[in-house]
Amino acid sequence: MTTPISRRACLHAVQALTLVDVTAAEALLHASPPSEKGEDWWRSAVIYQIYPRSFADANGDGIGDLRGVTERLSHLVDLGVDAVWLSPFYASPQRDGGYDVSDYRQVDPLFGTLDDADTLINEAHRVGLRVIADIVPNHTSSEHAWFKSALASDAHSPDRERYMFRDGEGAHGELPPNNWLSVFGGPAWTRVNEPDGRQGQWYLHLFDPSQPDLNWDNEEVRAEFDDVLRFWMDRGVDGLRVDVAHGLIKAQGLPDYVPHADGGSMGGDEESATPYWGQEGVHEVWRRWRSVLAAYGADRILVAEAWIHPLKRMAKWVRPDEMHQAFNFTFLECPWDAKALHSVIEESLTEFGAVGAPSTWVMSNHDVVRHASRLAVFGENPQGHGIGPKSAHKPDRIVGLQRARALTLLMLGLPGSSYIYQGEELGLPEHVELPDDARQDPTWLRTDGERYGRDGCRVPLPWTASEPAFGFSRTGRTWLPQPREWAELARDVQEGKEGSTLQMYTSALAHRRTYGLGSGTLEWVDLGADVIAFDNAGVRIIANLSAVVVPIEGQVIASSAPVHSVIPPSTTVWVTL
Ligand code: GLC
Ligand code: CA
Repeated sequence: MTTPISRRACLHAVQALTLVDVTAAEALLHASPPSEKGEDWWRSAVIYQIYPRSFADANGDGIGDLRGVTERLSHLVDLGVDAVWLSPFYASPQRDGGYDVSDYRQVDPLFGTLDDADTLINEAHRVGLRVIADIVPNHTSSEHAWFKSALASDAHSPDRERYMFRDGEGAHGELPPNNWLSVFGGPAWTRVNEPDGRQGQWYLHLFDPSQPDLNWDNEEVRAEFDDVLRFWMDRGVDGLRVDVAHGLIKAQGLPDYVPHADGGSMGGDEESATPYWGQEGVHEVWRRWRSVLAAYGADRILVAEAWIHPLKRMAKWVRPDEMHQAFNFTFLECPWDAKALHSVIEESLTEFGAVGAPSTWVMSNHDVVRHASRLAVFGENPQGHGIGPKSAHKPDRIVGLQRARALTLLMLGLPGSSYIYQGEELGLPEHVELPDDARQDPTWLRTDGERYGRDGCRVPLPWTASEPAFGFSRTGRTWLPQPREWAELARDVQEGKEGSTLQMYTSALAHRRTYGLGSGTLEWVDLGADVIAFDNAGVRIIANLSAVVVPIEGQVIASSAPVHSVIPPSTTVWVTL
């Protein structure tokens, strides 16, 4: 990978040039953007999430693939991100969009081959992008060789010890071992037929029955994952996003749990009482993984997907000897409310700062309603429930996009790292009119349509307005239908267009880099009620969530909506003073 000159080396060079050649000094500064490089690159990086199934389809079967990603990397370079994170592309029966892995060392033929993965990694590095892969340690697919041999073996055999098999309750073992529920709906236990054909033990699956939970108290499981980590590190990935990093360890004796009334379906819990989320034992696993990665140098990173509250508790995942980043879901879940946003930002900087970690900001991903819709839903919409034709609360597209742009510009002005989910740079809303028979999320299937699930944020991207499937696939095939109105949001329509959402992202990322906002320090500024304002690295960021205009002082360098002499409501601007 090309190593850009470090910021420090650059400054030294600039100092040496001072008074001699100001133009050359300026040119050097531009050549080496002030975002952190080297081993600390992740502290300030903007990382773009690719959901491979929906990014770009090179072979025309309607499903995005690795070649599709490689072919379009230049768009991400133009956008100005530092790295990409790819959701799983491993061998999988695809019961949960690839988060059900049957072989951790193979690429699913749907997405390509191992050679395609190598090409993608090398090509990304060549154009200056780092690559983060996804790893799914809480469960395997039921098609994994380990699970197949567990089913073929007798109860209490070593093959079953890799998973969470238990005898049932009741006189004949006909009741599940405890009352735990699956995140996707229904019980978290499924009973198996023993090799002799009789009904027998039960196995735990916190997600779909096709995703049996592994037994992380088993050393063989731990050793296998060390090896899988090395497999991908050896292929050159720069980091791993760790799926369900709050799962893995279950409380001794698997006690019953009475879920909280909040219905938070991805498992965020307020106390440490949930017997399957956030158990202390997970931290030992992360320390072990950290040392596996450290053998490859200090610049390879682990990113936690841990739905844990409050932030003080989540910060434990990013202590110096554990992971590097943890998605800030408290920020993601924050409503359109200036006081709430102000306090979550403050709390994030304090709590992550206390363990020496940056905050990892995020607004959207493949599991939540896209923020261009979520911010304009004026009613209950618990995470994972989605929005569909019969939902009581439908988002207003105009309000949603305006708010999404304002909060994105706020987020990109914050110190720390930020994640962008594919399509948000186009201002894509949630697809809320997906027909029932197109839906594929296990949530929809396991709740008999009571919850729509996550398909609405996973619709294939629109690249070119006038081509079949908006350029996603040359044959016009798409695994989920795209809304017709997306023609006007296609990338080619927005490229270079003043005022487009894509233009706002591109210019914000360029300024963020020039001023070093990702590695700056936040200082609050009081500009009145319902206005969030702070200074960071010489830039003042002002998000006006109030109902009245706010005067502008200084020079506007970025804005989420057209501004003249004042900042209108629902608008964020960046100014230099
Ligand atoms: C994570 C993934 C989600 C998946 C679940 C089970 O939350 O982000 O998409 O369904 O884990 O693996
Ligand atoms: Ca394809």
